[in-house]
Amino acid sequence: MKTVKTLSLVAPLALAAFAPASAQEFSKELVEKGRYLATASDCVACHTNHAGGKPMAGGLPMSSPVGTIVSTNITPSKEFGIGSYTEAQFADAVRKGVRADGANLYPAMPYVSYAIMTDEDIHALYAYFMQGVEPVEEKAPETDLPFPMNIRASMMGWNMLFRPADKPLENDPQQSAEWNRGRYLAEGAAHCSTCHTPRGVFMEEDKGRNLTGSQIGPWFAPDITNDKVHGIGSWTQEDLVTYLKTGRLDHRAQAAGSMAEAISYSFQHLSDPDLNAIATYVRSVPNPDASQASAPTRFDQGKAGNELAGFRGKGYAKGIEGDHAGAALYVANCASCHGYNAQGTTDGYYPSLFHNAATAGDNSTNVIAAILYGVDRHTKDGHVFMPPFGDQPNTINALSNVEVASLSNYILKDYGNAKLKVTPEDVQVIREGGPSSQLVLFARIGMGVGAVAALAVLGVAVWLFRRKRPQTQTAA
Ligand code: HEC
Ligand code: HEC
Ligand code: HEC
Repeated sequence: MKTVKTLSLVAPLALAAFAPASAQEFSKELVEKGRYLATASDCVACHTNHAGGKPMAGGLPMSSPVGTIVSTNITPSKEFGIGSYTEAQFADAVRKGVRADGANLYPAMPYVSYAIMTDEDIHALYAYFMQGVEPVEEKAPETDLPFPMNIRASMMGWNMLFRPADKPLENDPQQSAEWNRGRYLAEGAAHCSTCHTPRGVFMEEDKGRNLTGSQIGPWFAPDITNDKVHGIGSWTQEDLVTYLKTGRLDHRAQAAGSMAEAISYSFQHLSDPDLNAIATYVRSVPNPDASQASAPTRFDQGKAGNELAGFRGKGYAKGIEGDHAGAALYVANCASCHGYNAQGTTDGYYPSLFHNAATAGDNSTNVIAAILYGVDRHTKDGHVFMPPFGDQPNTINALSNVEVASLSNYILKDYGNAKLKVTPEDVQVIREGGPSSQLVLFARIGMGVGAVAALAVLGVAVWLFRRKRPQTQTAA
């Protein structure tokens, strides 16, 4: 320990002596601006192993539909991180998904969104990563995807097809400065579409249906367009800002899973003008399949009540099966917080399970995920916590797939979207991290490597087409 300390005192002097002449000094203001942008972009959420890893040192395993991708060390360590990246190389990694050694990154790194970031903002981010982040001298484990996805060059074809044109986003003169700022943040740094926009067969964002809802790992990021029924068209500007800042909106929605992370690490720290700008833009995004304005929404389904009478006096200790299993599981595991009638508490800390977006969505994903994974969110209001009931096989909290299915069905029937039915198989899918993509299968069965090559060729064709007609380019 002692030697390390002494070394760390001497090291800065030694480094100063050997620092290359080109090493830049950035101003404090620039580094702070970069820190804010890094927070808005949530770099830390993905580039930190939250099970004890150091900030930005990577090593977070991220389940993607094509396999597990591990994030990398992006501290300024010269050996294990991005300490020797030039600003141009850094810009290419963030906006184009190309590493310093020329290899392609997987789009788990949201360069498709970051592509619209301005040179000015990239410059500030670079200053922050070089000067405001502690170097961590640790190697992050490497990503090992199944064949053929392990061939990074296969991303070249994908990029040519789906990476947005490499040009800054132009302001829309028809819209206010606030709206333009909001679009820049929501579509870029804050990358709402990474989670909320459905994906096509090749995992590309389907921008024609921007923000209309998508499965993201074990959770479902709902439709947040201005559609009154399927989206959040019934929310006011203030509602959306409150939700992004605190992660909840009484009697409507709470943020768990990846949204809780985005709020904890990123959105709650944004300035009020920026949150309002994001809300102004998001509230203008339409759903192309707009629905009838009169139908009920996921925010006003279900009502208070219980089925206690159904199994009263039946000898609880023996276990209750059949029709009343769900109600009994609810009383045993959930009622202590959410109330016997699922009404929650008056202060709203424990939410009601009726009039709750998680129980009345178009699919059952978030009911199942809430039970299996619980809720864990840190904001300025404090720590919001619901225990997970899925991942502790040796504790009394562990519910089996059959139990989670009957509990979910009970909740959906009385408090949420009664049209949905959950099977134990559905629960297993969410337990394993969400549905996996057909992409690997396609690539393997289709033509094996041929499919990837075909995609690359097609990509080149599109690229040439784009190059020939730069004037007619439109941002995807
Ligand atoms: C949604 C998760 C996610 C977010 C958010 C994210 N990254 Fe990444 N990033 C990744 C993953 C995963 C990789 C590794 C991908 C691979 O191996 O192909 C990566 C790779 C990188 C690399 C390449 C490093 C190298 O040499 O291997 C850089 C640089 C980088 N990210 C910078 C950033 C910055 C800066 C931000 C914030 C502006 C950011 N990332 C936000 C997931 C993310
Ligand atoms: C990392 C993935 C991710 C990102 C990035 C993300 N979201 Fe979400 N979002 C989710 C998930 C998952 C949910 C569902 C959370 C739940 O119900 O517990 C959600 C829920 C929401 C809800 C509540 C909807 C409802 O019906 O409950 C709103 C509003 C929302 N997000 C807005 C945004 C906005 C605006 C952005 C960008 C500024 C954004 N989200 C970025 C994953 C994400
Ligand atoms: C120890 C208290 C506690 C227990 C027990 C508990 N919950 Fe929760 N639950 C919470 C808290 C706290 C929240 C989140 C409130 C917030 O986000 O503001 C929550 C949120 C939820 C949500 C909404 C999640 C979302 O994504 O929007 C659902 C659904 C839910 N609980 C169902 C259940 C079920 C079913 C059980 C029984 C298996 C249960 N809860 C047990 C405290 C609890």
